[in-house]
Amino acid sequence: MAEGPQLRTAIPGPNAQKVVARDTAALVRTTKCAPVVAASAQGVYVTDVDGNRLLDFASGVSVVNTGHRHPKVLAAIRAQLDQFVHVEGQDFYYDVQVRLAERLAELAPLEAPAKSFFSNSGTEANEAAIKLARWSSGRPRLLAFLGAFHGRTLGALALTASKPVHQAKVGPTIPGVHHVPFADCYRCPYKLDPSDCGTYCADVIEEQYFLRNLPPAEVAACFFEPVQGEGGYVVPPAEFVRKLSRLCHDNGILLVADEVQSGMGRTGKLFAMEHFGIKPDIVTLAKSLGSGLPIGATLARKGLDFGVSGAHSNTFGGNPVACASALATLDVLQQEDLIGNAARMGTYLHQRLLELQQRHEPIGDVRGMGLMQAIDIVKDRTSRAPNGPLAYAIVDAAISKGLLLLSCGPSAIRVIPPLLITSEQIDAGIEVLDAAIVQAIRASP
Ligand SMILES: Cc1ncc(COP(=O)(O)O)c(C=O)c1O
Repeated sequence: MAEGPQLRTAIPGPNAQKVVARDTAALVRTTKCAPVVAASAQGVYVTDVDGNRLLDFASGVSVVNTGHRHPKVLAAIRAQLDQFVHVEGQDFYYDVQVRLAERLAELAPLEAPAKSFFSNSGTEANEAAIKLARWSSGRPRLLAFLGAFHGRTLGALALTASKPVHQAKVGPTIPGVHHVPFADCYRCPYKLDPSDCGTYCADVIEEQYFLRNLPPAEVAACFFEPVQGEGGYVVPPAEFVRKLSRLCHDNGILLVADEVQSGMGRTGKLFAMEHFGIKPDIVTLAKSLGSGLPIGATLARKGLDFGVSGAHSNTFGGNPVACASALATLDVLQQEDLIGNAARMGTYLHQRLLELQQRHEPIGDVRGMGLMQAIDIVKDRTSRAPNGPLAYAIVDAAISKGLLLLSCGPSAIRVIPPLLITSEQIDAGIEVLDAAIVQAIRASP
């Protein structure tokens, strides 16, 4: 909840007399994690109410892939505002929504003709996927992974398993969800060596879970993130994803790729699952689809549909202004080569983070795909034990020095600038991150 108009960013800036500093920050922290009060934003920068310009390596949690206020996205939004803002897109037709559905169907690596259901957020996109999977398969159970984040409404929350705080005191969620360990090769849940484990984490689903308490013929869908996001930016090996895809196919289980965070060019391809060469049955999108306007999409392959009017619907999904923004977002990503830039700059960023790792012992791991990168902060490199407090201290120090960052998982810091970032801007961010790490290590107990 916002605390009121007197709030000021806790960073000394040109208007330092306005800064209420850490008291306000502490208050804000009861529900928010960063003491920044935004006033405006452009490109890769956010300016706060005190006039501080912050370099944005958080992208509004992977939302502004096209950068803040991209002129083509703003123009599309303005043009749609001049046409109409709402007539309700589930009962009536309008061109901009149909064009977006067609465009997504063309681009998504699904069996054609893919269909889209539009909503307002990632959690809603996953709710629709849960219902669609159960409806079309007639099966009740769902498979998901430890470390997953699929949203916070009670259906999607049932699939979410990244932090206990998400589940605490609000359960029970929907029944029928089974979680199994994910392919986390940095901290293998089975304590195996990834170089010769034969991706046991995929085999174990069939060899143990399916044989002991999860009848595969009752499983409607398996939900997975091609790169686990909130769980700590965990990149699974391609072999794991391919085995999972085969396992689902062989058992008539629908594979749902949640690309809410990893999609829309972030990993250097439009959809992260393209890196693995698999075709899921359902894809969910949100976050950067609308470049900041709320829109979620559930894309389903041929043959998957409710087929009955009213079985699933909403009021605001596929709002024309959000659809216009999404179409412009796709144009910008493709026409301005932002996806290619994400691949190139991702390689550069990864390299720069590896250099930081050489200088700073607490950086246990550097991982990611494209511009979906993270560093993992550990107590020591042998145990790889997460050092959450130090990770949070580094994020705090970076923000106070003008670099927006967000943590994820037990001890990772994500580094996710807008996809139009340049190597010079990456260098500037790395310099601040370097200084923030030094400061946080010095201050740590
Ligand atoms: C992979 C993934 N799925 C779903 C969600 C939920 O999206 P929203 O916050 O828009 O409901 C998130 C949000 O972080 C996410 O990262």
